[in-house]
Amino acid sequence: MEKIDDNAVLTPLARQLRLSATLEINELVQQRLQQEREVFHLGFGEATFPVHQSVAAAHRDASLTTGYLPVAGLQTLRESVARFQTRRLRSSVKTDQVVVAPGSKPLLFALFDVLQGDVLLPRPSWVSYEPQVLHAGKRLFWVETSEQNRHAISEQSLVYTYEHALRSGGKPRIMLINSPSNPTGQVFTKENVDTIVRFCEERGIILISDEIYSDIFFGDEHPASPGSLGRLDESKLILTGGLSKTYSAGGWRVGYAIFPSSEFGRTVQTAVLAYASECWSAASAPAQEAAAVAFDTTSEMDLYRAQVARLHKSCTLQMYHQLLSFGLDIAKPQGAFYLYPSFQPFARQLESLGIKTSAELSSWLITEFGVATLPGSVFGEDDDGLPSGRYRLRMATSYLYFKDCSERYEHGYDLLAMAVTEQFVPYLPLLQSAIKALQAVVDKLKAL
Ligand SMILES: Cc1ncc(COP(=O)(O)O)c(C=O)c1O
Repeated sequence: MEKIDDNAVLTPLARQLRLSATLEINELVQQRLQQEREVFHLGFGEATFPVHQSVAAAHRDASLTTGYLPVAGLQTLRESVARFQTRRLRSSVKTDQVVVAPGSKPLLFALFDVLQGDVLLPRPSWVSYEPQVLHAGKRLFWVETSEQNRHAISEQSLVYTYEHALRSGGKPRIMLINSPSNPTGQVFTKENVDTIVRFCEERGIILISDEIYSDIFFGDEHPASPGSLGRLDESKLILTGGLSKTYSAGGWRVGYAIFPSSEFGRTVQTAVLAYASECWSAASAPAQEAAAVAFDTTSEMDLYRAQVARLHKSCTLQMYHQLLSFGLDIAKPQGAFYLYPSFQPFARQLESLGIKTSAELSSWLITEFGVATLPGSVFGEDDDGLPSGRYRLRMATSYLYFKDCSERYEHGYDLLAMAVTEQFVPYLPLLQSAIKALQAVVDKLKAL
């Protein structure tokens, strides 16, 4: 067989691309399942509640809508997003500020591609930002955070990274934040958001705020957004969100971006639309019809969003209390459906097993105990660095509700209906078995 030389076939940038770590772990899990071996799936952040009946009906009703929709998205969907965000941000968002795409991921990709400058990114951050930034030919500078202050971003850390970037010849002109955060499950306080906005404004840095988890929060108040209270139009700010997490419809591929109504906003929006027109044309028509219903501000959809958030809160916090009692280092999650523990307290035992990195730790967990997690290294942690980062894993609780799709639709609506109060604690067999499997991991380490 002819041997292909990658260097001759692929561009230098393409040679750096790898299958996204989240999709890779899912494939490993599928392989184990095919071998009929047990898996405790904490690796993939896919929401799995049943789709709201009205949303599903809208998708069904539009199944024969096969034409291309406008590049910026279906008008009724853009109106629906604008109404929803106007209420959430407590400031007016107009329909023409909204651009829809097949997921927020391609919109983020497009933004990194069309905007000038290098990128500041909190460490840790979602797996796809770093490859997207590198693919756009930009340099990435990590803003360090720590578990001790719930992965908040301090002004000191921002200034330190910014100055380091300048000293090393970088041109930091873009910053991205994500709250509630994947992987930490943390939510920025209003003060923290104010600090970031001020820092960016003072230096003319464009702020991208990935708010895909903004409806899934565990406190009494909505997570603070840099776009709230009229700031969207005053700042160089772009918000992104979508259908994948709150509405459990990642596979339908609907996301959106909101641009300021300023000249800055219009300039970037025009470039993104041109990009979209040459790249994905438009998101799927039935999925856009369904999304227009999902983002509705009706009491029916408000109830669904609240039920989803309560279930994620209950399941994720049950897991948190167990991990804490096992002796792991972990900050209490405030939103989304992620936990970000460090096995550092067992550093001595792990080293005696020859496990020195988060990648080795995650691989040991899946092969020995069937526990699927993602290593901290794919979120930017340094696997050659301090043990707190080297022994960090991301665990997602979103697969712990139903065994499979038929159970999801057989019991899912009842489960949602039961989540009427904050006090409701669901009994979830998959959560209990995942906890048991993690208990076995910790018992093994303690015995060393
Ligand atoms: C932080 C974050 N941003 C964006 C996305 C992309 O979501 P989508 O492209 O489905 O809108 C995800 C999905 O996992 C995510 O976790």
